[in-house]
Amino acid sequence: MTPVPAPTDGATIVRWRDDYAPHFEALNREWIERHFAVEPADEAVFRDPYGSIVAPGGEIFFLVAGNDVLGTCALMVHGERTFKLAKMAVSPGARGRGYGDRLIEAAIAHAREAGRDTVLLLTNSVLAPALALYRKHGFREVPVAAESPYARADVQMELDLRRDSVSLADAFRRVHEHWRPKVVAALNGQEVKVVKLRGEFVWHHHEREDELFLVVRGRMRVEYRDRVVSLAPGELCVVPRGVEHRTAADEETEVLIVEPAATRNTGNVEHPTLTAPTGARL
Ligand code: NI
Repeated sequence: MTPVPAPTDGATIVRWRDDYAPHFEALNREWIERHFAVEPADEAVFRDPYGSIVAPGGEIFFLVAGNDVLGTCALMVHGERTFKLAKMAVSPGARGRGYGDRLIEAAIAHAREAGRDTVLLLTNSVLAPALALYRKHGFREVPVAAESPYARADVQMELDLRRDSVSLADAFRRVHEHWRPKVVAALNGQEVKVVKLRGEFVWHHHEREDELFLVVRGRMRVEYRDRVVSLAPGELCVVPRGVEHRTAADEETEVLIVEPAATRNTGNVEHPTLTAPTGARL
């Protein structure tokens, strides 16, 4: 995991530690009891923060200055594509120092790094400073889902991480296998994918789909039965539907693909190792 960048005033953000469990509970009880009432769903989380949040794949962040734990927030797994931001608290004496911003930034960075599409949160309309903070970080109000376990939840907000720009450099850094295209964007029924190539692919054709290949780094060949097209960085070609082809690269090559959603990389061929799952996102 990438370390969370250190804030400049000596306070740092750290991930879950067992000995911080009492701080997690105390920081959250403070604001919940002041404005609302602690609910059974809160008690369940306080009894076992690690088991209910971190172990299933979430994370709990703490803002620490010296020996003081001054803030916390949690990211809980919520389906495959979403994290839920929850249990966010800054100690009353430490407010106004931007600690809430730092906690949210750490949480958003973590969600992005984990490849989640959205971060959602449930809150209450009386918590005006919290709502302003969430809005500042890009959260937008959406209808409240019916299944909320908290009576105090009357506002639901979402941050759509997919709306942001895509860094191809970042995307390729996160691709670790060859011949496994990953979707980074979608538009008009087409998908934009990144893939790393090395070696020779399998001969195949696509019944209905044209495929665009754009080389970002390295060199690739698009081989047809009667000719070979060589592509250098910045060069692209379109392989027409129905035409048999094979891609190849002598060195590891980074390629951007545009083709209709759910196009299978091996087309009409089912290959034991080269056929990749369709629709896999980064
Ligand atoms: Ni193909």
